Amino acid sequence: MAVNCDIPDALIVALRDARHICILTGAGVSAESGVPTFREAQDGLWAKHDPHDLATPDAFLADPVLVWRWYRWRRDLVAEAEPNPGHHAIARLAELVPRLTLVTQNVDNMHQRAGSRDVIEFHGNIFEDRCFADGSLQVGDPTTAVPMCSECGSHLRPGVVWFGESIPEQALHESCAAASDCDVFLSIGTSSLVYPAAGLADLARQNGATVAEVNPNPTMHAGSFDYALAGNSGVVLPELVNCLAV
Ligand code: OAD
Repeated sequence: MAVNCDIPDALIVALRDARHICILTGAGVSAESGVPTFREAQDGLWAKHDPHDLATPDAFLADPVLVWRWYRWRRDLVAEAEPNPGHHAIARLAELVPRLTLVTQNVDNMHQRAGSRDVIEFHGNIFEDRCFADGSLQVGDPTTAVPMCSECGSHLRPGVVWFGESIPEQALHESCAAASDCDVFLSIGTSSLVYPAAGLADLARQNGATVAEVNPNPTMHAGSFDYALAGNSGVVLPELVNCLAV
């Protein structure tokens, strides 16, 4: 297959020689599936809603019906979308390298639907229902405006991390360990504005990894990365995998 490889040769060599690759994805990797990102003015989720009115524990307690309505709208939006070539390329990359750790800030389950396994969900999963009181995984009644916990009677909430909440401990630990250990770190489709996720690339760099981003709009970190591939992940990632596979 003719490969139009715009990927720098040195990055391909680094990927080919890597013992361990760590990937961090953000909303941009799902953009080509039609799932809105957060901060893009024209169609970002936040363009229509102030996140602090919807994605915080206080917002939920103030109006659980509104918050559930917003998350169910997002669930339906995501459920109708399909993984795009970027998601599939990441799943295929895992078969081409000795070890790949995938950390995602996305809650849309798209990586899993594309075949990626052991996905570290930094911000949870929108399709999970959890007890508001103890965070346990529950199965809520989708027909009620605010589903209740069958065990304790508390509200159920979507299984996502809200502003002001901490990252699930195991996800944070595993992500930091992978970023510290990897030989190549790829930051894909994220504005790199939200910490601690945005700090993983620095952690990788401090431990000697080659760091690259894939984003049509270079982020403020691009200058400190080894490579900034300015393109859509649905185009760049299949090209990167094809270059590796030859
Ligand atoms: P953002 O909306 O902040 O950034 C999306 C990034 O994707 C931008 O930098 C775009 O330039 C880029 N992008 C757009 N289309 C792309 C494409 N086709 N290919 C590659 N990149 C593309 O979303 P995140 O960085 O994911 O947290 O936001 C991080 C966190 O902020 C989210 O997980 C969420 C939000 O608060 C929580 O909800 C806890």
